[in-house]
Amino acid sequence: METLILKDDQIKRAADFLADGQLVAFPTETVYGLGADATRPDVVKNVYAAKGRPSDNPLIVHVDSPEMVWQYADNRYQTQAQKLMDQFWSGPLTIIMPIQPGALSKEVTGGLSTAAFRMPNNQATLDLIKTFGKPIVGPSANTSGKPSPTEAKHVYHDLKGKIAAILDDGPTVIGVESTVIDLSAKVPTILRPGMITENELMNVLGDVASDHHKVSQKEIPKAPGMKYKHYAPNAQVIIVDNVQDFPKAIKQYQNEADTIGILATDPVLEQLSGNFKTYSLGEDVISASKHLFAGLRALDDTQVPIILAQGFPETGHGAAYGNRLNKSAGQQHFKTQGEK
Ligand code: TXA
Ligand code: MG
Repeated sequence: METLILKDDQIKRAADFLADGQLVAFPTETVYGLGADATRPDVVKNVYAAKGRPSDNPLIVHVDSPEMVWQYADNRYQTQAQKLMDQFWSGPLTIIMPIQPGALSKEVTGGLSTAAFRMPNNQATLDLIKTFGKPIVGPSANTSGKPSPTEAKHVYHDLKGKIAAILDDGPTVIGVESTVIDLSAKVPTILRPGMITENELMNVLGDVASDHHKVSQKEIPKAPGMKYKHYAPNAQVIIVDNVQDFPKAIKQYQNEADTIGILATDPVLEQLSGNFKTYSLGEDVISASKHLFAGLRALDDTQVPIILAQGFPETGHGAAYGNRLNKSAGQQHFKTQGEK
């Protein structure tokens, strides 16, 4: 199969592919998604196959409006959900709610009685859903386990020949996936941190709990996706939490490998010199979030076996960055000699 790259003046073409039961990758403000008709189980199955994703991991249902949500969701949490939608949609917040019995297939929900809904802040994709007339499922459009795609070329690299088209709208703005909040829990619970922070959600909902701790293979996680290996480049990633440790870390790992990769902000990179590959995370944790996945992929392309990546405090906007980076590193942090 040839994979076409479409631009935002070709929305109709993309919608026609979806109507024909084909897969179309779409842009969002967070990462690119792998789109398919959410109402057709036979087509949704192909999403799992294209990604190589375990099929017990439910998918986000992308909509063009709150009205589209209420065609599928149960209205038990409508008051709370509406407050969140008013405040944060369109935007990087995914809301989990119970659905009307039988409204969505088990291929979408993973057999749960809830589903995840999101209205992305990207005009091309909102137009695509509107033109198509139905919601589209969309996990991140990468091979399962790899860093999520923030540019059309990342999608092409992972999925060329497996999907009909990619709707290309340039690099994504945020770079890490949406915050996922489960309204069906006793207390509304954050299952995955993102750019909408715990504090922002508390301001709207009052009480909010957090459940994005490490999940082992044996546990049954609330967001099934949290148990799988994620965001991992081919290189081993090691997190450097204290930027003063970079020279020591570089010295140590250059003994093990000829060339290593450094993923850090400009102020840190400016202080370092030596023979290594670098990729800039910009200035702060917001720009670091935007460039993290692209940086992991770009350094992987240079074949370095080790990437030293800058850590940030995991609070506020740093929670999403830390969550993704810890997974791509398999929780490995640089330790100076004597540290446990
Ligand atoms: O920013 C995003 O959210 C991107 C863009 C493309 O919209 N999408 C994305 O989808 O990250 P995905 O499939 O990679 O992540 C969805 C997460 C998974 O961890 C999944 O297990 C969880 O949401 N999830 C989906 N439905 C759920 C449900 N009914 N109950 C609990 N967790 C659910
Ligand atoms: Mg993903």
